[in-house]
Amino acid sequence: MAFEFTKRKLLAQKSLSRYRQRFCVQQAAVSSSQTHNAKIIVDGKTYINFSSNDYLGLNNHAQINKAMQEGIDKFGLCSSSSSLVTGYHYAHQALEEKICQWLNKPKCLLFSSGFAANVALFNALGQSPDQEKGTDGGHFFLDKLSHASMLDGAFSSKAKVKRFAHNNTAQLSQLLSKSDSINKLIASEGVFSMDGDKAKLSELAYLAKEHDAWLYLDDAHSIGVIGEQGQGSVGLLNDHKAGQANIVMATFGKAIATSGAFLACNENLHDYLINFARHYIYSTAISPALAWATIKSIELIQQEQWRRDKVVELSDLLMQLLDKSIEIIPSDSSIHAILIGDEQKALKISEQLKNNGIWLTAIRPPTVLVGSSRLRVTICTNHNHNDIRHLANCLNEALI
Ligand SMILES: Cc1ncc(COP(=O)(O)O)c(C=O)c1O
Repeated sequence: MAFEFTKRKLLAQKSLSRYRQRFCVQQAAVSSSQTHNAKIIVDGKTYINFSSNDYLGLNNHAQINKAMQEGIDKFGLCSSSSSLVTGYHYAHQALEEKICQWLNKPKCLLFSSGFAANVALFNALGQSPDQEKGTDGGHFFLDKLSHASMLDGAFSSKAKVKRFAHNNTAQLSQLLSKSDSINKLIASEGVFSMDGDKAKLSELAYLAKEHDAWLYLDDAHSIGVIGEQGQGSVGLLNDHKAGQANIVMATFGKAIATSGAFLACNENLHDYLINFARHYIYSTAISPALAWATIKSIELIQQEQWRRDKVVELSDLLMQLLDKSIEIIPSDSSIHAILIGDEQKALKISEQLKNNGIWLTAIRPPTVLVGSSRLRVTICTNHNHNDIRHLANCLNEALI
C-alpha cells in the first residue's frame, strides 16, 4: 500500500509514549467578572488550564471582542486577497503603525502566523550563493532550543546553518569568528518556549555588533509579558549600548490573544520582504477585523501593567509553595518547566492531575530533547491564588 510507513510511524510513536492526540475544548468557562477565568471544559468536565498561552488573560476580553465586531462591520471578516493584490486594508496599516510605535521600529509586516513569518524570513534571507549579486548564501546561527519554525525556515533556506548550545554565547562567538560569510544572522527566542528562560540579550547584541551580523529575535513568549509596556525582549534592548535586535518577530496568538504575527525591521528589509517573502506574497492577508481587534489588545497591554504584575505575583507564589526537591527551570516569565525526564512518567502525572481538575499537558520529544519530558506550567493573569495553591499541592503530592 502507498505510504504504508505512516501506519508504522504512528505505531512507533505509541510504543514510545510520544503519540499525540487532540482534545476538544467545548468552551472556556467564563466567570461573572469582565475578565474570564482560566478554566476550560473538556468532555463535560471543568479544569483549571495551566497549559494556555493566553498569558495576560486577554482572550474573550469584552473590549477586544467589541473591536472585532467593529472591524467586521467596517472591513468584513476576510481580506479577500493577498496583501500585494487588494488584501491590504486600512486596519492592517493601522496595526502596523501601532506596532512600530510600540516597539520603536521603523517598519512592520503582518503574517498569517508566527510559523509562516519565521519560515518566510529565513527563506528570504538565505539565498543561493551568487557573487554578481553580492550574496554568499549567508550563515545562520541559531540557539539549539530555537522553535521548530525557525529551524524549518533556516534549514529549508540556501544559507549554511550552525546551531550553538542553548544560551552558550562563548560557543556562538567561536562559530562567528570562523565564519567567512558577509551575511551573518544570529537568531534566538527572547523567552524560550519550552524552558521559560531568557536569551542573553545584551551578549547576543554585542556579538552581532562585533561580527557585523544581524540579530533576529523571536519574541513569541515575551511580547506583552516583559517590558514596561509589554514590548517584550526588544524593549529590554532599546537604548542598550550593545545595540538592538535588527528584526523582531512575535505572534498575536499568545499574550496578544488574537491570531497572526508580525515582523518588525528597517525600511530596506521591509521592502525586500514585500518583494521576496513567499509566505507574504502568496498568502491571503490576515483578517482585517482581527487586525482591528489586535490594535485594541495592544492598547490594553500597554495600559494595564497590573496584568504583568499579576503573572509575577502568582509565579512567585507557585515557587514558594512547590517543594524544593522538585526540579524546575529558573524563569522570570510566565513559563515554568518542571522536568520529569521519562515520557511515560510525564504522561502519567499529567493524567493524575486531570483527576484533580488540572489541565497540564506533558511535553515530550521531539518538542523537547529525549530524556527531558516535562510539565510546562504557564501562569496567566486570570489564575487566582486558590488555583496556584491547588496546583502546588497536587504537584507536591504527585512528585515527592
Ligand atoms: C517561539 C515560537 N515561535 C513561533 C511560533 C509560531 O507562532 P504561531 O502559533 O503564530 O504560528 C510559536 C508558537 O507556537 C512559538 O512558540
